[in-house]
Amino acid sequence: MSYFACSKGQLYAEGVALADIAAQHGTPAYVYSKKALSEHFLAYQVALAGTSNLICYAVKANSNLAVLKVLADLGAGFDIVSAGELQRVIAAGGDTGKTVFSGVGKNAEEIEYALKVGIHCFNVESESELEVIQRIAARLDTKAAVSLRVNPDVDAQSHPYISTGLKENKFGIDIDTAFGVYQHAAELSHIDIIGVDCHIGSQLTEISPFLEALELTLALVDKLANAGINVKHLDLGGGLGVRYKDECPPPIGDYIRAVLDKLNDRGLTLILEPGRSITANAGVLLTRVEHIKNNGDKNFAVVDAAMNDMIRPALYDAWLNIEPLRPNENAPEKIYDVVGPVCETGDFLGKQRALAIMPGDILCVHSAGAYGFTMSSNYNSRPRPPEIMVDGSNMHLIRERETIERLMHGEHLLPEPE
Ligand code: LLP
Repeated sequence: MSYFACSKGQLYAEGVALADIAAQHGTPAYVYSKKALSEHFLAYQVALAGTSNLICYAVKANSNLAVLKVLADLGAGFDIVSAGELQRVIAAGGDTGKTVFSGVGKNAEEIEYALKVGIHCFNVESESELEVIQRIAARLDTKAAVSLRVNPDVDAQSHPYISTGLKENKFGIDIDTAFGVYQHAAELSHIDIIGVDCHIGSQLTEISPFLEALELTLALVDKLANAGINVKHLDLGGGLGVRYKDECPPPIGDYIRAVLDKLNDRGLTLILEPGRSITANAGVLLTRVEHIKNNGDKNFAVVDAAMNDMIRPALYDAWLNIEPLRPNENAPEKIYDVVGPVCETGDFLGKQRALAIMPGDILCVHSAGAYGFTMSSNYNSRPRPPEIMVDGSNMHLIRERETIERLMHGEHLLPEPE
């Protein structure tokens, strides 16, 4: 169900009219529903009830502190890919002991920081990284818990930019060589092997690629066990898709059941790293129509949000539903490209949309809660939008709109010539 729905002739987030949020906080603005966030997370928890599991929310999807806190309070662990994300987890009161550190390019400072605060494990993506972790753990006189992220060479059937489990992708350790790397890891004095990890991509709308990757990973788990290397957990990554338009991804419960079936009762803890399936449909982006213009055959609605605020349409040709907060009876319906003020032809939020709108109308860009704000930038010196969380009939500002002063903070002019 959607927590952004029409009631009494206008769009609401839970019990708050989106028009009231726009009036109070201006546009563009990101709006999240606490209830939606919680429900999506709880769907994982309910499906996994009675099993040994750890749900590590992928912070990169939406890293606002208030979002992390809502999930931490529900018992979430976290999947991070940088020291910055780890610091956010800590600032939000998240449990570092339930945090896994993924990513292909962890540097020495980040590894040391994670070892010092005490994370659940490193998802190691190369032999080179393993050596660096060993060296730093030895210097700190500690043991680093690791799992190796294997690349199973499975096609996620998703957009090429967000498929990660093919040999041609930079991610993970080739599953055919992973056994050898585990044997080597087992000999390292300051490495504690605790798991196997795999993440094949994002926005998967079928269960079968997950199961194919799981089977290959389980075969490796068995081979390791025969060699005396016993892992405690299997991390299947994130990747479950959501409905943006007419996609039909499996419900979270169906996906989990299929995975648990394959795991059988091997005694492995299942770790998952969902991002998009928790936050995408828990957020929208509000934007105001600034100008309507017509270039010959084409109509443009120029809005105040742009590719710097929401890059997914420009970067992946992503389709996001766009609708006015209220119908405008005075405007004729026309087909519009909804574009932003940024000086790039690729700056669009939607193309060929039937809308009855006039300047001043406010539009709701749906499914914007994941990879929206976190991928935003200040291109064209545009301050980033505020973030607001709705909880029942209350709205809370959870991130202020940036100011131009803040954008220029830390910049310095060259000294005047003598
Ligand atoms: N774990 C790892 C190791 C990942 O690389 C990712 C996402 C996730 C978990 C979470 O995946 P999710 O459940 O969100 O699919 N910016 C792109 C998506 C990039 C995904 C990167 N990795 C987009 O807007 O579509």
